[in-house]
Amino acid sequence: MRRLIVTTASLVLVACSGPAEPPAGTPDAATPALEVNVYSARHYDSDRALYDAFEAETGISVRVREANAAQLLETVRAEGENSPADVLITADAGALWRFKEAGLTQPIASARVEDTVPARYRDGDGHWTGLALRARVVAYDPQAVSAEDIATLGALADERFDGEICVRSSSNIYNLSLLGEIILRDGVDAAARWAESLASNMARDPQGGDTAQIEAVAAGLCSIAIVNHYYWVRLATSSSQAQREVAAKTALAFPAVNGGVHVNVTGAAMARHAPSPEAARRFIEYLLSQEGQAMLVSETREFPIVEGVTLPAGLDTLPEFTRSDLDLGELGETQATAQRLFDRAGWN
Ligand code: FE2
Repeated sequence: MRRLIVTTASLVLVACSGPAEPPAGTPDAATPALEVNVYSARHYDSDRALYDAFEAETGISVRVREANAAQLLETVRAEGENSPADVLITADAGALWRFKEAGLTQPIASARVEDTVPARYRDGDGHWTGLALRARVVAYDPQAVSAEDIATLGALADERFDGEICVRSSSNIYNLSLLGEIILRDGVDAAARWAESLASNMARDPQGGDTAQIEAVAAGLCSIAIVNHYYWVRLATSSSQAQREVAAKTALAFPAVNGGVHVNVTGAAMARHAPSPEAARRFIEYLLSQEGQAMLVSETREFPIVEGVTLPAGLDTLPEFTRSDLDLGELGETQATAQRLFDRAGWN
């Protein structure tokens, strides 16, 4: 593997003796970076291992700042042109869109990314790319509900599920993107009716994260919970017997929105003022390598976005399902409408 330490040597030559041979094709070849600054909304030990592996392979050290997506956005905005951020990592296309919309990103400009990641999982202007996939699905009580009864997400609006639905707050980006897809598929009026019916079918006011909804189903508080698939898989494969029992009392169904299951991404964006865009590009490309992909999803239990990567434990037992073919870049524009519909429906 080519190591950037070599280009550091050529930089020294440039400084001491005029034009030396620059690395070809790198926009920032005159200032090669030995460091990439990653602002990440993820907090996993497996990501640390991933950064170490990238460092070992490229000689580029990884500096990480971890916070939630909203905090990272405010930090990058406040840092302005002096921001050390090269790469921004967060979950959900809707959250990545917020960084782009705030003017905090620029094109990744990587042919490798474009060749590897399907266009619907990337920003149309190339500012961000998906790295891993998650499906927003349903955990249910198989004693109370049959999978056929919840074959579509629309079925959850049926009055037979009055008092049976648990779901987290509407301000959560996962729900905003889910309703965003319903808006795009079925129209605003149908999406409004769905949100209203769901709100009236709730067993309780929205509270807690996705795992708490699965626990509520296992505890008999409700029979249906809308959750991202990996929360259930983590429980099912947990080292804690209590957590495995929670999963065992529930089952996972993959209801389609209108043609396919709502999927979203964990993704990476190139920061607008990235001091080391070439190192950032290499880092993002590494996350899309077979090795990078395997490490990226090993603990999170997301689906790799690249074909042929070995699935992490627990995913191999899930049923096959048809993914929505929605272009995730469209979900940003629907956020405000989705929030308005949720508010009007009383879905807190
Ligand atoms: Fe999550």
